[in-house]
Amino acid sequence: MRTVDLIEKKADGFELSKEEIEFIVNGYVAGDIPDYQMSAFMMAVRMMGMSAGETAILTLTMMNSGDTADLSSLPGVKLDKHSTGGVGDTTTLAVAPLVAACGGTVAKMSGRGLGHTGGTLDKLESIPGCSVEIEMDKFIDIVRENGVAVIGQSKNLVPADKMMYALRDVTATVRSIPLIASSIMSKKLASGADAIVLDVKTGTGAFMREKEEAFELAKLMVRIGRLMGRKVTALITDMNQPLGMAVGNALEVREAVELLSGKIPETDPLYEVCMLLGVHMLMLGGLAENEKDARSSLKAAIDSGEGLRRLQKMVELQGGDSSYLCLEKIDELLKVRQIIDLKAPKTGYIHSIEAEKIGTAAQMLGAGRAKKSDPIDPAVGLVMKVRSGDHVSLSDTLCTLYVNDETRLEEVKKLLLEAIEISPLAAEKKPMIYGIITEKDV
Ligand code: URA
Ligand code: CA
Repeated sequence: MRTVDLIEKKADGFELSKEEIEFIVNGYVAGDIPDYQMSAFMMAVRMMGMSAGETAILTLTMMNSGDTADLSSLPGVKLDKHSTGGVGDTTTLAVAPLVAACGGTVAKMSGRGLGHTGGTLDKLESIPGCSVEIEMDKFIDIVRENGVAVIGQSKNLVPADKMMYALRDVTATVRSIPLIASSIMSKKLASGADAIVLDVKTGTGAFMREKEEAFELAKLMVRIGRLMGRKVTALITDMNQPLGMAVGNALEVREAVELLSGKIPETDPLYEVCMLLGVHMLMLGGLAENEKDARSSLKAAIDSGEGLRRLQKMVELQGGDSSYLCLEKIDELLKVRQIIDLKAPKTGYIHSIEAEKIGTAAQMLGAGRAKKSDPIDPAVGLVMKVRSGDHVSLSDTLCTLYVNDETRLEEVKKLLLEAIEISPLAAEKKPMIYGIITEKDV
């Protein structure tokens, strides 16, 4: 077999065999195939696509390029959730403990933020002492004791994806449905869960800007899961504006604590997406028969405080100071030099809020990284005070900035005013949930 012939075959639109896909992926991981050939191959995939069968083989080959977690010593159905990436998406910190409080087993490996999107690991590390680098045995012990733990992926989990993603980032091959599906699913499968609820984002702040592409990606991932013997449900949800109001690490921990303390109304989009994720996790786990029962269990876990206690316990077992995780003390994690309100420059309706720009603004304040090695300031970020469709008067607060380093403050304000569009006419309200794909749909 020659790599150049396989690139040619894919570029001509033909389907590759299992042996051919394994040749390319394994050859690349072993260092026998150079970056330029892998780049050309992935561009051919981006342009010509892959069948569901090819994508499943690619996923399996990538998964087997490194370690896979064995969670079989834990009781019950091992549950996981995954979001394709967003702004103000603090769902994991709220849903994972709630599902544990309802009897679920949530052994979750999460990622870090990059660019305009946030990452659960960075949020957890904003809690003093909380570690996300934990040995597998200890991780399993914590889950056994508390029903939930969230750690970083071990170093050798899907090395093929680490190498391919780094290349995709700089060769315009990120936005390919089979490459995204295999990247996400190889990591989810290697992390060992039996059942996975995916939150596929669509809109201006998401990889999949068009709804149709998000549905296609969701269906493909559900099919791959089924082919691999896992239960997968995918939600398709809106990322035309930040999901929650808080964008920043400790700020998002605070919002999760508020949700778990019953302080976020049921009409709130973050609440609704958390509920729906939790509902489908409980249903896949056999812990609820239907949506109604699942919702009432989750709600009971909020009302009783058991969800919040699971988060506190998890942080404690992961070495962190859980005393911050209550409404009375959480603001101590948000000590910054300046808190600044950004005011509306005119009266009108909020026509749109571009999530990507909001995320970038928070990143520029120090809440995120432009490149992997950048440090993060856990306390900084912003809290939105408006959502699309709201009416504002001149000088009303659009958002509140938590600032330590002023160097880019003017640039940040300018970007935020660009992101928040105010017009004389109210925009049509977009739905929060576009659809749900289960095994039955694919
Ligand atoms: N998230 C991933 O893990 N991989 C992708 O390709 C896109 C989003
Ligand atoms: Ca498109």
